[in-house]
Amino acid sequence: MKLELRGITKRFGDLVANNNINLVVEPGQIHCLLGENGAGKSTLMNVLYGLLTPDSGEILINDEPITISDPKDAVAHGIGMVHQHFMLIPVFTAAENVILGSEPVRPWPLLDHRAAKKTVGELSERYGFDVDADAVIEDLPIGAQQRVEILKALSHEAEILVLDEPTAVLTPQETDALIEVLQELKAQGKSIIFISHKLREVLALADVITVIRLGEVVGSTTPAQATTTSLASMMVGRDVNLVVDKAPAKPGEVVLKVDDLFVEDDRGLTTVKGVSLEVRAGEVLAIAGVQGNGQTELIEALTGMRRATSGRVAVGGVDTTKRSVRGILDAGVGHVPEDRQEHGLIPSFSIADNLVLDQIDDPKFAGRFGRKLKAIRENGEHLRTQFDVRSPSVDTPVGSLSGGNQQKVVMARELSRDLKVLICAQPTRGLDVGSIEFMHRQIIENRDRGVAVVVVSSELDEVIALGDRVAVMYDGVIQGIVDPSTSREEFGMMMAGARSEEEMA
Ligand SMILES: Nc1ncnc2c1ncn2[C@@H]1O[C@H](COP(=O)(O)OP(=O)(O)OP(=O)(O)O)[C@@H](O)[C@H]1O
Ligand SMILES: [Mg+2]
Repeated sequence: MKLELRGITKRFGDLVANNNINLVVEPGQIHCLLGENGAGKSTLMNVLYGLLTPDSGEILINDEPITISDPKDAVAHGIGMVHQHFMLIPVFTAAENVILGSEPVRPWPLLDHRAAKKTVGELSERYGFDVDADAVIEDLPIGAQQRVEILKALSHEAEILVLDEPTAVLTPQETDALIEVLQELKAQGKSIIFISHKLREVLALADVITVIRLGEVVGSTTPAQATTTSLASMMVGRDVNLVVDKAPAKPGEVVLKVDDLFVEDDRGLTTVKGVSLEVRAGEVLAIAGVQGNGQTELIEALTGMRRATSGRVAVGGVDTTKRSVRGILDAGVGHVPEDRQEHGLIPSFSIADNLVLDQIDDPKFAGRFGRKLKAIRENGEHLRTQFDVRSPSVDTPVGSLSGGNQQKVVMARELSRDLKVLICAQPTRGLDVGSIEFMHRQIIENRDRGVAVVVVSSELDEVIALGDRVAVMYDGVIQGIVDPSTSREEFGMMMAGARSEEEMA
């Protein structure tokens, strides 16, 4: 089906999130939307899906104007959407979530669970997605939750499919599988709108690329006419340095020491199997690996979110193995969690309050007579400017910020404390290229100030760019610690379980 958005304008108070946007998506076309964090991409898609009412503008399908007042209308018109922030029901299984909202609609006790399971089985088979139909959503890692979202959108047999940053939390293998699925849907004549900050992926997939900046369309191009560099500057309005400039590390003494750590996941499976690491002041240890090889549980154990079953963690010589999150924070550990939505922010609180969440009893922000509102505000103003959080003010609730800007709030809070150790999980997931450049520089500046930095990332590019040394994790074990100049092939092999050559020698 042909889709046309004509003159869409959407305001939030004084903020014009979409300003007279025109967009045409032809049948059998993959149309990629690019733009900085806060440019207005999700807003436009939420208008299309009936989650937001535009102030003006029209939606046409096959040149006929249609009315979409809520997501039900959108689904009825053949529109499916994979949202940037998950909309699954955490306590339901994957199968229940996929079937919910599709016809026939029934209350939960009457759901046909067997049929649901069968549908999910068929869908995962058809699209080559590994989804456990019986798994309860909240127990699944974030990448697996994303696969369920995608299956749910595909299950409606949508003719127009919108995917808002679907690959942000997928592994490279899952991304390849998704790209294949999208190519197949395209061959069947479906129209696809795909939002991503990963420029190489966009160049590989798109038929047409439209760039949005500050709520307006800046232009459209095609992969044949564009490069990652040209797309980056089109998005941001200036040249972006896609490679991190950094001097060689000057490692000092060991600050973080991990000895023979074993950690179990929620299901009681041992997912970290005897990890030992040393990270020195002034260096970045990057941990590479396909997601789900114990990185999450390792980080959780290092930051007090999960208790290790055995082994020892020390920060600056002090044993922190059994400390609480608070106790580890006090030892000088900053943490940018993987799941920012769940662990990093309180959506209904203002930006200023979120920026001092872990410092509420710091004398800087709290006195005998309560919270020091002026100091909290000033801190908020300062960090909002420094980290370029796009928002009307520091009083804006964090929940109304664009995905990437929410992330900047967490980074700003963690990086602004006086740290000995900084632990970042997927630090630039969901950020635009300009913000990635900025965050990478911030991380390196922390390193150069003598912080011991651990970066866990499933993006090999990021691992290579930031790491002074790279540990590759596979099946709960560090396969080897190598130089970032190691070839991609070698990294690939290690990530698939082969030991590094150095280790074997
Ligand atoms: N419900 C809301 N209330 C107030 N402002 C909002 C709301 N939703 C979005 N905005 C604002 O509208 C602007 C556009 O946000 P949007 O989420 O569309 O950006 P985006 O292009 O999807 O960015 P990202 O790449 O970070 O996901 C932002 O400034 C955001 O803060
Ligand atoms: Mg968005």
